[in-house]
Amino acid sequence: MVLALGGIFAQGGAEKLDIGLAMPETHVERWQRDGAALLDAATKLGYTAEVAYGDADQSKQNQQIQDFITKGAKLIVIGSVNEGVTSVVSDAAADGVIVIAYDRLITGSKDYDYYITFDNFKVGQFQGLAIEKALGLKTASSADPKYITLFAGSPTDNNANFFFDGAMSVLRPYAESGVVKLVGPAPLDSKSPDFTRIATENWRADVAKTRMENLLGNDAINVTLDAVLAPNDTLARAIIEALMTDEKYNSIDKLPVVTGQDGEIASIQYIRDGKQYMTVFKDTRELAAAAINLADALLKGESPNIPGARLDEKSYDTGKKIVKSYLFEPVNVTKDNYKEIMIDSGYYTEEDIK
Ligand code: BGC
Repeated sequence: MVLALGGIFAQGGAEKLDIGLAMPETHVERWQRDGAALLDAATKLGYTAEVAYGDADQSKQNQQIQDFITKGAKLIVIGSVNEGVTSVVSDAAADGVIVIAYDRLITGSKDYDYYITFDNFKVGQFQGLAIEKALGLKTASSADPKYITLFAGSPTDNNANFFFDGAMSVLRPYAESGVVKLVGPAPLDSKSPDFTRIATENWRADVAKTRMENLLGNDAINVTLDAVLAPNDTLARAIIEALMTDEKYNSIDKLPVVTGQDGEIASIQYIRDGKQYMTVFKDTRELAAAAINLADALLKGESPNIPGARLDEKSYDTGKKIVKSYLFEPVNVTKDNYKEIMIDSGYYTEEDIK
């Protein structure tokens, strides 16, 4: 698959633009797939569309969104970097441009009505359940506790709260009963002040790797970790890399259980090889196609019908209003089912995983 990297890609000439597609970054693989799939779906419905990647820089993304508005876009799909996007969302609304929040809720704004994403709490639950199962927490006792260290995603990404709270909905009772000992900062939910200490600025792998290295030399120096809660694949692999430099974990059979998310190619290989325990697959093809269906309905003034999605009109509060949200189901992936989920579904080829 050829992925569009960085910059802006036009389809069908720059004079007239129907739909702008603003993706947050390319350093996490999925966004390139989202961008490509959104562009493809929009073009297939006969719209002119462009995709831009913000390189995890909100001012850069705001400029890209301004450009879309200037080019006459009627609708903009935004996977935002952080809440700094609200100023351009208001500009769009003032110009009558529809905004759809894509994958990440745009908090602090009253200027849009629709959000389309996966059930992000469930993503975290899968991660928590995987650790519960792998460590046998149901039958473990506080006399022989399990050692877990916690990582979360970007503190400016609303999804990071959902992932963490979903995972902790499973792990928290074990931490409270002493069956699990949390190593390092130990927030029990995303509202805890300690949450920022486990969060990873802009989902950067180097930040997670350095934090893991520091933990190994400090809080984790006198214990052997049984699991690391890692919020996505990019960070999981950085954490595994750090772990493998420590002689306690320097071979595959000695590594702790490490969770992930996104089903990135390199992590599927890690899962096959036993280095990473699991990932959570969110089919970007499905999300992108649905976002463009939603866009199409809104542009035509029709009421949206999004097959496969659950409509939630209560839960997603931007802080200024509740937006209508369409949620898709994530899928739990381990060594047992990765072939079926990631390859038989046509998402990757056998060759990709080699
Ligand atoms: C997405 C994840 C992704 C992360 C980092 C989150 O908002 O939901 O799929 O791994 O951002 O890009």
